[in-house]
Amino acid sequence: MPLIIANWKMHMNKERATDFCKKILSSGVDLSKFIIASPTPYLGLLIDAFDGINFCAQDVSIFEGEGQYTGQFSSMMLSDIGIKYAIIGHNETRNLSHDTNQIVHKKAINCINAGIVPIICIGESIRVRESGNYKEFLLNQLVESVPILNNPMIIGYEPSWSIGTGLIPNDIIEIFEIIKSFLSKNLIVNNVSLVYGGSVNLNNVAQILSIKNIDGVLIGKISLDPNNLTKIANI
Ligand code: PGA
Repeated sequence: MPLIIANWKMHMNKERATDFCKKILSSGVDLSKFIIASPTPYLGLLIDAFDGINFCAQDVSIFEGEGQYTGQFSSMMLSDIGIKYAIIGHNETRNLSHDTNQIVHKKAINCINAGIVPIICIGESIRVRESGNYKEFLLNQLVESVPILNNPMIIGYEPSWSIGTGLIPNDIIEIFEIIKSFLSKNLIVNNVSLVYGGSVNLNNVAQILSIKNIDGVLIGKISLDPNNLTKIANI
């Protein structure tokens, strides 16, 4: 089964989130390959209620441990409640919080220090894609955002122009080759899984998952319905 990361973004409420997890638990899918990125307010209660499901934060603080940082939550705190994964550098976070590659790198290190697997997202905007230099741009994002460490990590390729638009790049295979070669050159290829995200749906997921080097998908909009996820798990 591929890795399936459900990114709920700022959706769900307590009742819907709970119903969702009940359905996933009773569906019989391989839970080890299944990661749910819930909004932070629900993480604690979901973890306590649903043993066996991997929950994921949608961001972490650039600060470690504890400190005078109102509104922030550290990777150590997430680890303390049992979180195993955190999405770092999602395009929406990079834009809304002005996260640079250097900030993404620091957040990834914080995750690793706390025993959390960072899901590090990279991806180009439509402006960068049309400039023709997007492959260099993506390589630079990798160089600046990904820690050269042999800890487990996940890298997500999510071009911003594909998120929620129905558009899928026709050169995912080449982009994943760039990512693989970056990882191989830095001798960290063995512990890193690669996922694609951006307008993944039931019609295109089989084709996306058949692309060389892809270990799974990062899903936004259609991840709010548990039936969609169990269908993908059974592909
Ligand atoms: P989408 O979002 O599947 O709705 O395009 C993907 C994401 O932002 O992770």
